[in-house]
Amino acid sequence: MSRTPEASPQRTPRPSGTSDVLVVGGGIIGLVTAWRAAQRGFTTALVDPEPGGGAAQVAAGMLAAVTELHYGEQTLLGLNVASARRYPDFAAELTEVTGQDLGYRQCGTLAVALDADDRAHLRELHALQRQSGLESEWLSGRECRRLEPMLAPGVRGGLRVDGDHQVDPRRLAGALVAACERAGVTFHRTWAERLTVVRDRAAGVVATDGTELSAGQVVLAAGSLSGSLPGVPDAVLPPVRPVKGQVLRLTVPKRYAPFLSRTVRAVVRGSHVYLVPRESGELVVGATSEELGWDTTVTAGGVYELLRDAHELVPGITELPLTETRAGLRPGSPDNAPLLGPTDLPGLLLATGHYRNGVLLTPVTGDAMAHVLTTGELPDVARPFTPRRFSTAALTEQPA
Ligand code: GLY
Repeated sequence: MSRTPEASPQRTPRPSGTSDVLVVGGGIIGLVTAWRAAQRGFTTALVDPEPGGGAAQVAAGMLAAVTELHYGEQTLLGLNVASARRYPDFAAELTEVTGQDLGYRQCGTLAVALDADDRAHLRELHALQRQSGLESEWLSGRECRRLEPMLAPGVRGGLRVDGDHQVDPRRLAGALVAACERAGVTFHRTWAERLTVVRDRAAGVVATDGTELSAGQVVLAAGSLSGSLPGVPDAVLPPVRPVKGQVLRLTVPKRYAPFLSRTVRAVVRGSHVYLVPRESGELVVGATSEELGWDTTVTAGGVYELLRDAHELVPGITELPLTETRAGLRPGSPDNAPLLGPTDLPGLLLATGHYRNGVLLTPVTGDAMAHVLTTGELPDVARPFTPRRFSTAALTEQPA
């Protein structure tokens, strides 16, 4: 994938290798797809200049199927919950294979309200969670502060969700790279410049270093860049766009520990803010949500808003060293849900568009992609997420 959406000049390709499966994109979704494909016995290659990089280096790693439930996203909820359930076994398997700890922490989440409007909003979320069969408990402000004494005295109430956990996405990415290496995945550390199509079938990619990589099946899993790989016919190009998120990292000195014992989140003046405490002492504060194309600038305004909102929730945050500021790009899709499985171009599959849920959806995506690569069919849990829901025919179909 070229870094920017502009096409670059074409060179004469040099043949380099052929594989059963070629994954374009080495973020956590591409990596898990390659790992699971290799485990199924496919010869597998992955093309990315920096496997394990991308949005996972910025993400906070909340596994928030319940606290990030939104009206109109009940279908996505099914996939999110299925993936959350797979996390304990997935994390254990990855740790066993690589010897690496993922920072998977079953610490729970507390979503709190700072004023009457937030409280009303949380009450509605609570009702929706209950209607959807999800476990969450309403707490008074005092009960919230008893759980998390660093919370602001003004907290008006909250939802305790013990089932929403966290993982460290940087560790997850590193472990997936190691697992792929162990499973025999071949890494091509370069950009895919364009897809090659031979006799109306995806046949591989040409890389920016001129090598030609061919494969029986190509999986486009390039996050927010997935919608801009030259050579992909317009009719099957995924409708994925970058949605910028700025994220801060602070450090909790040992003398303040435990500063927070679980993820704490709120909607402050309409913006989501969350604080994710790691056992290492890192405290991740996120995230802005900005429709600014390919911009990854960290801005004074973004940092100010995050700190201002986090400070309203947890005033003591201003005492902590600010150790990192970074921006990443979520791969947004028109319905906020991923695109998984075959396209109308034979040989080309998608695993992209995970938007706010890439880390959460990693286990189920790996399983679903391995299944579809093996059988040609998506498993039931992933069937609603076929890319074909955005095909021209599907979009023009009228209800009877
Ligand atoms: N899931 C958190 C975010 O996208 O900011």
